[in-house]
Amino acid sequence: MKTTISHIKADIGSLPGHTTVFSPVVKEVEEYVKKHSAGLLTDYHISSVGDDLQITMIHHEGVDSPEVHELAWNAFKAGTEVAKKVGLYGAGQDLLKDAFSGNIKGMGPGIAEMDITPRKSEPFIVYMMDKTEPGAFNLPIYKMFADPFNTPGLVIDPNMHEGFRFEIWDIQEAKKIELSSPENQYDILAMIGSKGRYVVKRVYTRESHEKLPDENVAVITTDKLSLIAGEYVGKDDPAAIVRIQSGLPASGESLEAFSHPFLVSGWMRGSFNGPLMPVGLNNAKMTRFDGPPRVVALGFVLKDGKLSGPVDMFDDPAFDGARRTAIDVVDYLRRMGPFEPHRLPDSEMEYTTLPKILETLGPKFVKIEDAPKKAKKLAESTKDFD
Ligand code: 13P
Ligand code: 13P
Ligand code: MG
Ligand code: MG
Repeated sequence: MKTTISHIKADIGSLPGHTTVFSPVVKEVEEYVKKHSAGLLTDYHISSVGDDLQITMIHHEGVDSPEVHELAWNAFKAGTEVAKKVGLYGAGQDLLKDAFSGNIKGMGPGIAEMDITPRKSEPFIVYMMDKTEPGAFNLPIYKMFADPFNTPGLVIDPNMHEGFRFEIWDIQEAKKIELSSPENQYDILAMIGSKGRYVVKRVYTRESHEKLPDENVAVITTDKLSLIAGEYVGKDDPAAIVRIQSGLPASGESLEAFSHPFLVSGWMRGSFNGPLMPVGLNNAKMTRFDGPPRVVALGFVLKDGKLSGPVDMFDDPAFDGARRTAIDVVDYLRRMGPFEPHRLPDSEMEYTTLPKILETLGPKFVKIEDAPKKAKKLAESTKDFD
């Protein structure tokens, strides 16, 4: 029977700044889902990473189910009421619209969902990040499904040897493209290295996959709050569902993609680059400089609509090295203060509060008379936008 895994997340208020969720809020959301999910969900799991509340749901309604989306929306609304009562910071932060209108897309929360044909054993991992953006998944998803130095299964497992198909979204132009690895690897990399614009949305098996042909095996939230709201309102902290084993990356191949704390965007005020630190749930709170950006991995097995788990995968000394390196990188970057490349480049600061500061300086600017011709021409042509 077709089954759907839906993961919906939102920041509905945190304690004390953007550090962590407040347990009575989590409890309220959990109670709401428990009370209203009978006959709709076959199972669910509520968790949190930093200031983001996360609902993983199992059902047979298919992706984009209005009932499932509304349940998550109303659960977040109920949690927001508790957050408001105790004065949590940013209560209801990601709920950008007042009333639910059939689909939670474009309303603020992040959504990753996929229809699957469950295997005899259906193991999967939910990855959840805070203080970063959807493009932060580009590198690890590429490593899991396309890099044989990370995933030797691509070389030695006949079921993986054909590679995988990537669905990549251009989130600035609202268009998408499908490309397959290994034959289009360089084209895939040409795009997804620009992680603020091109984001991996889904990964599929090839049609020739013996065990699971043409199946969705990974999905990532790609919702950009700034593009919905038109201004900075938090930073689209992403989540992903990744199916594993039996012709897909092994559990350890999937986790291995986070063994090096590569740089991601979206730290402090959504305006800084920092290392992505893999942590267990116990350390999923954002402290130093509101971070550093973190990722948690919860491992589940699904059978007949029911979940077993989760296992808190990064709660393991095997990732101490990655955490130590991350902290060294933090020490290094922090000494740069407000300078690039610790701070994001100009083009990505558009939706932060920086343009407001720069606007006040506008009238104080005077022309440089002996500026090169080209610069003068550019200044003339952009005059209307000043
Ligand atoms: P499967 O091919 O059964 O998923 O096992 C791969 C493996 O050996 C993991 O280390
Ligand atoms: P969140 O997007 O996690 O709410 O963080 C906001 C921020 O800018 C913290 O510095
Ligand atoms: Mg927040
Ligand atoms: Mg957050």
